[in-house]
Amino acid sequence: MSTICLHNKQFKSHISDETIDAAILNVANLINQDYKNKKPLFLGILNGSFLFVADLLRKIDLECEISFLKISSYSGTSTTGEVKELVGLNEDISGRDLIILEDIVDTGLTIDSIFKSLSGKGANSIEVATLLFKPNAYQMQYPIKYKALEVGNEFLVGYGLDYDGLGRNLKNIYIINED
Ligand code: IMP
Ligand code: MG
Repeated sequence: MSTICLHNKQFKSHISDETIDAAILNVANLINQDYKNKKPLFLGILNGSFLFVADLLRKIDLECEISFLKISSYSGTSTTGEVKELVGLNEDISGRDLIILEDIVDTGLTIDSIFKSLSGKGANSIEVATLLFKPNAYQMQYPIKYKALEVGNEFLVGYGLDYDGLGRNLKNIYIINED
């Protein structure tokens, strides 16, 4: 089994590129069926979703659009601490069927804040498709409609996911080596 080192930590191979590809094909097939005769607007959340978006979209046979958003976190001037803001949304989303594309949904706090920023802008529908889902960590009520792969709570890297900036380019997914 292949082991890699990123910064000071060891990771071992966990999910192969073939498994990732098959799981993405399942999600693409579901979306192709569910959005027949619709023209969805996919919204990829940077940076982590870039490979998932590229591989998923090549399996989508619908008329569709794709745009990318970024979450910028900054410390507010008030006492409330961290504020999260969605940047890069230039499209008019009123009446559109949105599909948010994420690399991973863990506690769900991030997707919840994205959902809140997008709701109230007149979209016809908003769904989430995530490459990875951590069911035992998820704390939100909002259902995640499309989950390519369910994983445990361990820290993962590769295929878009990073450990302190490194590892996004790896074609397989690796799990932190605790031993
Ligand atoms: P959440 O807000 O707890 O759902 O976490 C979302 C964000 O935390 C993701 O978009 C990732 O950037 C990061 N994250 C959560 N779990 C992992 C992991 O296992 N590896 C790398 N990043 C992760
Ligand atoms: Mg992310």
